[in-house]
Amino acid sequence: MVLLLPLLLLQGPTWCTAAQRCPRICVCDNSRQRVACRHQNVTEVPDTIPELTQRLDLQGNMLKVIPPAAFQALPHLTHLDLRRCQVELVAEGAFRGLGRLLLLNLASNRLSTLPQEALDGLGSLQRLELEGNLLEELRPGTFGALGALATLNLAHNALVYLPAMVFQGLLQVHWLQLSHNALSVLAPEALAGLPALRRLSLHHNELQALPGPALSQAQGLARLQLGHNPLTYVGEEDGLVLPSLRELLLDHGALQALGPRAFAHCPRLRTLDLRGNQWSAWLLGTWRGCVALRWLYLSGNRITQVSPGALGPAQELEKLHLDRNQLREVPTRALEGLPALVELQLSGNPLRALHDGAFQPVARSLQLLFLNGSSLEQVSPGAFAGLGPGLQSLHLQENQLQALPALPALTGLGLIDLSGNPFRCDCQLLPLHRWVPLSWTPSAETFTAP
Ligand SMILES: *[C@@H]1O[C@H](CO)[C@@H](O)[C@H](O)[C@H]1NC(C)=O
Ligand SMILES: *[C@@H]1O[C@H](CO)[C@@H](O)[C@H](O)[C@H]1NC(C)=O
Repeated sequence: MVLLLPLLLLQGPTWCTAAQRCPRICVCDNSRQRVACRHQNVTEVPDTIPELTQRLDLQGNMLKVIPPAAFQALPHLTHLDLRRCQVELVAEGAFRGLGRLLLLNLASNRLSTLPQEALDGLGSLQRLELEGNLLEELRPGTFGALGALATLNLAHNALVYLPAMVFQGLLQVHWLQLSHNALSVLAPEALAGLPALRRLSLHHNELQALPGPALSQAQGLARLQLGHNPLTYVGEEDGLVLPSLRELLLDHGALQALGPRAFAHCPRLRTLDLRGNQWSAWLLGTWRGCVALRWLYLSGNRITQVSPGALGPAQELEKLHLDRNQLREVPTRALEGLPALVELQLSGNPLRALHDGAFQPVARSLQLLFLNGSSLEQVSPGAFAGLGPGLQSLHLQENQLQALPALPALTGLGLIDLSGNPFRCDCQLLPLHRWVPLSWTPSAETFTAP
């Protein structure tokens, strides 16, 4: 206000009336800096919006077309919300004069194309929402004027192809959202000219092969979401070279195989999500090069066995999820070389029995162990050998256990779930009954009468 005072004095009464009157169909705050004219079916930007308005919310109207310089009379705008306004066309220069705009929301409209100069004049814009439109193609140069943009959301459109240099000029973009489109091809230079890109969302598209060359253009990428694409194979030849990548999400695809050294050039990778694929064969050395891996999710694949040495050495691996696969036994030897493993998920495998020393290689570090829903009928007396006070929770529910040995070494257990087992209430269960803390009373489902 201090800055505006001289302006105010100069403009005198004209400015005062304009600033004080709130258009009939709008709601304004006391200072007239926030104006909301939502769901009023207006077909044009109302011409009586106070000139000093900073935040203008027009969502849910029927603008259809944004003509050139539509907001020229509102040079102080920082936030402009045009969601759900049935916009089909943004004319060239539509936002001219909005040099202070930080956020432009054009989500949920009907844009099928963006003219070359539609976004000109938005030199301060930090966030552009174009989610939920009908965009089928983007032309190089479309975003060239958005030198300050940090987030670009193009999710839920109809994009099938990204041409080379399409994002040129977006020198500050951190997060590019391209999920829920129909992308099947990315030109090798499609992601060139995005030096600040850290996060790229490409999930829910039609990619059948990893666009390695395009992705490798984004050398600063830390998080890459590629889930829900019909990818069948990833190998070193796909050329994924991402020295800064920390999180790679390849879940819910159609992966049947991973080449040896598929992730050989991602030395900082901490999280690798491969859930819900169709992976069955385990190749030795797949993880070589993933020296920083901490969380590895392989749930819901078709893995039948994990060969010794396939996982390790992984000095920092903390979480290993192998639940809902086809493992017929605990892959004990494959757990060697994982000195930091804290959480092991093996539930939903047809394990049937736990043999002696099944968890010995990771017994020192393990805290959470999931063996529920694994058709377990038999647990050898030494099955949990090596595990001690470090183990905090043990899930054995939904199995076929009739008896369980006492586990006196597990003094640190905060949770043991034994529900959904047909335990026989006879002498065989006595050691367990003595061992389980007094406070624990079996529920009706836990025990079924012999
Ligand atoms: C906008 O148009 C719809 C459909 O014609 C109507 O139901 C609604 O009452 C209108 N809203 C206003 C504020 O005029
Ligand atoms: C195992 O138990 C955990 C915790 O209750 C649960 O989240 C998970 O879905 C269960 N897994 C299976 C395969 O039933």
